[in-house]
Amino acid sequence: MSTPLAPNSLAASALVLPDVECVPSRARFREAYTGIELYTGSGDARAAVDLSDNTNLWGAPPAAVEAMRAAIVAAPRYPTVYATELCEALATRFGVTSDMIVTGCGSDDVLDAAMRALAESGDTVAMPDPTFPMAATFARMNGLEPIRVPLTSDHQPDVDALLETRARITYIASPNNPTGLACPITSLARLAADVAGVLIVDAAYADYCPLYRESLARLIARSDRVLIVQTLSKAWGLAGLRIGYAAAPPALAREVAKARGPYKVSTLAERAATAALRHDAPWVAARAGEAIVNRERLVEELRARGLTPLRSDANFVLLPLADWPGGAAAFTAALRAHDVGVRPYSGLPGLGDAVRITIGPWPLIQRLLDACDAVLGAGCS
Ligand SMILES: Cc1ncc(COP(=O)(O)O)c(C=O)c1O
Repeated sequence: MSTPLAPNSLAASALVLPDVECVPSRARFREAYTGIELYTGSGDARAAVDLSDNTNLWGAPPAAVEAMRAAIVAAPRYPTVYATELCEALATRFGVTSDMIVTGCGSDDVLDAAMRALAESGDTVAMPDPTFPMAATFARMNGLEPIRVPLTSDHQPDVDALLETRARITYIASPNNPTGLACPITSLARLAADVAGVLIVDAAYADYCPLYRESLARLIARSDRVLIVQTLSKAWGLAGLRIGYAAAPPALAREVAKARGPYKVSTLAERAATAALRHDAPWVAARAGEAIVNRERLVEELRARGLTPLRSDANFVLLPLADWPGGAAAFTAALRAHDVGVRPYSGLPGLGDAVRITIGPWPLIQRLLDACDAVLGAGCS
């Protein structure tokens, strides 16, 4: 039965599109975007043991889950414009004032907004290579030119070479993804003092390095050009809610908030994250502690098998596979046949092919080791 038209609304003839020929295509796209690939990540089909995305494999923190359930009733209304309550909870945790916090739909969103806010079209963004690949993508999405500076032979940012670029933005992920290594705090302090433009420190994994995290917070007090970006997607177990933030001097945070725009954090996400920050810090610290113990144990187990994993300061381990026949893709596919998922990298500068393995509860890591044993055994025969 068709819906009767209300007497005061438009006539049906003005509402229904008649069958007309398609107009000739005149769609034009941004030139800078032609070289940007659509991000696909590791795909949506997950392995039973999915160690591919560095999320918290122990689950979500309890107060956050409770707050999400209670927040359902707020779904019909808009969230707060700039996540006021969440900013206050983050400011308390970071030891800064809430005007020094900007939130976003994941730290991806905060990085994207920062690149838009803090540079003019055509400016450069210096970053170590390899690093989090989205940094270069966000630069290009915002009309900026990435300058990739190879890591040193000990897999650390080359501070002198980064400074020499005199880039408008310098981006450092620390601990870095995919190497897992934290950049020494003295190097970051030097960058903070000497970069020509703004320094973005992407500290997505700093919750696995508590002492380092506290030092990062102090870095903001020493320079008005430093932005520390963090996320609740990793140690805080809330990746599906998409909550990221940055701490920065107020003027910088305000510019990034302008570029980010309003209503980016949903009510559910804001309430869950605020509850987690107020009540779940001990849960998060305990799970992070367990991840560190399991990470060290995994590194030893891999070394015992003749492999050469990098040491790590994060919740994942990078395993170079330069000599594996077929490289990282073949190794990943072989593990996948045992229903274990890891993240492959092909031809990482200075490292070659490698796989990145997320740390989780030991039974999952044991499944990975069992799969590795089967794959290594088959590879050797
Ligand atoms: C270094 C780094 N930064 C940022 C992100 C983005 O995290 P999210 O957008 O979930 O906060 C990731 C995700 O893997 C990452 O590894």
